[in-house]
Amino acid sequence: MIDAIPGRRSIRRFAQKAVPDELVDRILDAGRWAPSGLNNQPWRFAVIRDKAVKEKLASLTRYGSIIRSADVILAVFLDQDAGYDRTKDLQAIGACIQNMLLAIHDSGLGGVWLGEILKNGREVGSLLKAPASCEFMAAIALGYPQGKAPESPGRKSIVELVFSRI
Ligand SMILES: Cc1cc2nc3c(=O)[nH]c(=O)nc-3n(C[C@H](O)[C@H](O)[C@H](O)COP(=O)(O)O)c2cc1C
Repeated sequence: MIDAIPGRRSIRRFAQKAVPDELVDRILDAGRWAPSGLNNQPWRFAVIRDKAVKEKLASLTRYGSIIRSADVILAVFLDQDAGYDRTKDLQAIGACIQNMLLAIHDSGLGGVWLGEILKNGREVGSLLKAPASCEFMAAIALGYPQGKAPESPGRKSIVELVFSRI
């Protein structure tokens, strides 16, 4: 796990190869085991394989080409009915998404967290017939990676990040 965390990359180019449903469920399973405040588990998901629906999603973001080439799109929602504290619910959603990205990596697949599409969150919700209580949080595009993983974009050093050690 400790190697998987820095080893995971955002993958944006996918091979035309189907991802088995069992792997999709393995990824969702990792998501649902994320921590959440009061264990409220506010995440909800839509799994999109349909080409026409993917095309409509693609038109809602400038990262449409990633959506078109990915075999599966996972749409992640926050269920306001399950929520109890906006900040903590959002943090839980982030943990859920990161768990799924790590599961994608662990499964030999590639994926990327797509946030730019949030500007059209309402349209995504109605396209996917999300329940009224569900707010769109992110899309994850996933599939078998095509070509080599990109170079690591690197991270700030610990020295830059820790402002105090008392
Ligand atoms: C909240 C959030 C939104 C993101 N939105 C996009 C996006 O819309 N399009 C995209 O190509 N990558 C998106 N990314 C992926 C980041 O660009 C990527 O994680 C970052 O550059 C670091 O690269 P790495 O994931 O390979 O370490 C997003 C990541 C996060 C956490």
